[in-house]
Amino acid sequence: MTLNESKKEVEKGINIFISNLSEQELYRPISYILELGGKRLRPSLALLSSAFFGGNVEDILHPALAVEVFHNFSLMHDDIMDNAPIRRGQETVHEKWNTNSAILSGDAMLVQAYKLVINTEDSNIKPLNELFSQTAIEVCEGQQFDMDFETRDNVSIEEYIEMITLKTSVLIACALKMGAITAGAADNEANLIYDYGINMGIAFQLRDDYLDAFGQMEKVGKQKGGDILANKKTYLALKAISNANEIERAQLIELQKEPNPKLKVEQTLRLFTSLGVDKDIEHLSKSYFAKALASLRSCEGNPKILEEFLTFSEGLMVREY
Ligand code: IPE
Ligand code: IPE
Ligand code: MG
Ligand code: MG
Ligand code: MG
Repeated sequence: MTLNESKKEVEKGINIFISNLSEQELYRPISYILELGGKRLRPSLALLSSAFFGGNVEDILHPALAVEVFHNFSLMHDDIMDNAPIRRGQETVHEKWNTNSAILSGDAMLVQAYKLVINTEDSNIKPLNELFSQTAIEVCEGQQFDMDFETRDNVSIEEYIEMITLKTSVLIACALKMGAITAGAADNEANLIYDYGINMGIAFQLRDDYLDAFGQMEKVGKQKGGDILANKKTYLALKAISNANEIERAQLIELQKEPNPKLKVEQTLRLFTSLGVDKDIEHLSKSYFAKALASLRSCEGNPKILEEFLTFSEGLMVREY
């Protein structure tokens, strides 16, 4: 299985999932968000992981789709929480419809994700369900920290890393471990691929934070500076405070209260750049990436698929969307 083949299988599966949705209003936002696409990173990794450990596509496909449906559910609710107008270059669901629709269609997606997880080979249902449930609850915990941090000004780097591990990494790691489980890999192999996912996920979220501030809106497909506007305690924001002198620190804190959004983003970005945090975040992201690769390389899997994993991971590190 190559990366392209795994992406094709995922796309086919998503299309079948969408075509099975009823015409009712409840499902329109669901097909809308899924049709907006996205990188399909998590299910593709699940399929690669399964193949890496010698599994079959049929056994991993439904759990992989479950993760993608869950991911899109979490984005639908995340966009309400983050007050985000644009996702994947188009209007977010709560903007196109309304908040209540985004809540309810999101809820329905969470249930659909569970239906997909249990629509799998009997012997794997229990471990997959346990892993998926544990992951889902951790994502909620991470999202709560993310919100709590908006109004705190003493968030540490350790707390930030814990928060992004929960909100982002565990789902990527879960997708990979599901591949290992359905392939019947040994526990220590499943745990190694999980660790790869955790560190890769941290590197991935650091890149997400970088792109939110410094990316090109046309490529990223989200509002530029959305994290700055919401006073998110990203690594950029935390490192800026720690690199700043007294005057700059006061300016950064004052900017959190700035009511003019254009001014707020522009001036914060200017400070971020002069304080060099764009470089700092890249550096930290690379160090988690290196950790991720160390776990991946210590797995005993198919060497050809290891190459696919490496190419994929490297691509994620330099992605612009
Ligand atoms: C966005 O995830 C949310 C994060 C956890 C950073 P992706 O960047 O994987 O979003 P899509 O699915 O490709 O749009
Ligand atoms: C999203 O993090 C994490 C989850 C949806 C669980 P972000 O809020 O940074 O994701 P984007 O930038 O909106 O895609
Ligand atoms: Mg968001
Ligand atoms: Mg968010
Ligand atoms: Mg983001």
